[in-house]
Amino acid sequence: MDLKTQLKELQEATQAQLKQMNGNHAKELQDLRVQVLGKKGSLTELLKGLKDLSNEERPAVGKLVNEMRDILTASFEEQAKIVEAAVINAKLEAESLDVTLPGRPIAAGNRHVLTQTSEEIEDIFLGMGYQVVDGFEVEQDFYNFERMNLPKDHPARDMQDTFYITEEILLRTHTSPVQARTMDQHDFSKGPLKMISPGRVFRRDTDDATHSHQFHQIEGLVVGENISMADLKGTLELISQKMFGAERKIRLRPSYFPFTEPSVEVDVSCFKCGGDGCNVCKKTGWIEILGAGMVHPQVLEMSGVDSEKYSGFAFGLGQERIAMLRYGINDIRGFYLGDARFSEQFN
Ligand code: DAH
Repeated sequence: MDLKTQLKELQEATQAQLKQMNGNHAKELQDLRVQVLGKKGSLTELLKGLKDLSNEERPAVGKLVNEMRDILTASFEEQAKIVEAAVINAKLEAESLDVTLPGRPIAAGNRHVLTQTSEEIEDIFLGMGYQVVDGFEVEQDFYNFERMNLPKDHPARDMQDTFYITEEILLRTHTSPVQARTMDQHDFSKGPLKMISPGRVFRRDTDDATHSHQFHQIEGLVVGENISMADLKGTLELISQKMFGAERKIRLRPSYFPFTEPSVEVDVSCFKCGGDGCNVCKKTGWIEILGAGMVHPQVLEMSGVDSEKYSGFAFGLGQERIAMLRYGINDIRGFYLGDARFSEQFN
């Protein structure tokens, strides 16, 4: 058999074998490629016969060999694609993947209801030209108590026992110490001080549905010339209406805080019954929302503020209390569970 015929036969035989290989035959395909086109393969073997040809014949047959290698290489590549597709199909079938199924929704979180509450209140006060100030959660006894007019032996300290780091350093029991710290920094010759300070506070308390050893307040303070109780009342009325509805009225009851004089407890008319009496307002028509008062002259003086020239009002509200009232949350512990199902309800 001459070389040409042998080449032709090799091509036909190889292509016939490739044709039969319809499917998942990666290994066989690779074996056949080596067998035919490999270094020690059939084609190389046939090439050895070139040397026996005459000089006239050799170029034409050499060309033929090259063409055939190209043809076979293309055939192998074509088959490789078929095999590749078969491999993928086999995998897909095994996984029984249904690409037409709708995707799973990605769960998006939302801001915590307390964050929402404090941001809402911050926005209202920012709109009135207040600054928002940060305080220290780990605070000195000096600022937490003494500068708030609660000296070491003051009986009102009993209501605000807390966690002590040392005798002089504690976890703050209220946001009120921020009053002293900001007054210390403020230059009153440049204008009044108007600030709020939201943050976390701590008490030695047994946790139950309405108490937590850790909760959140927002402190408010305005100090300047001619600041009066009327300013306090107007401000509290506005915040109450923004938080609980435009129809709300407020009521001030005399109270006691060491750092304010006079001191008041502030009630808002019930947003559920409008004042007729219901379970939310405990049949009184009023709901207590915060404590406030006119800054005690002693507190001003301790910051070096002339209490003859300047006066001010202050208030402190509980963020949890506001949120519980607004959303009808009946257990304070829900705020701290970190349970998305709790948070989602207030989105
Ligand atoms: N610091 C008080 C508390 O935690 C709340 C408070 C009452 C703050 C009256 C004030 C205020 O600024 O004027 O119980």
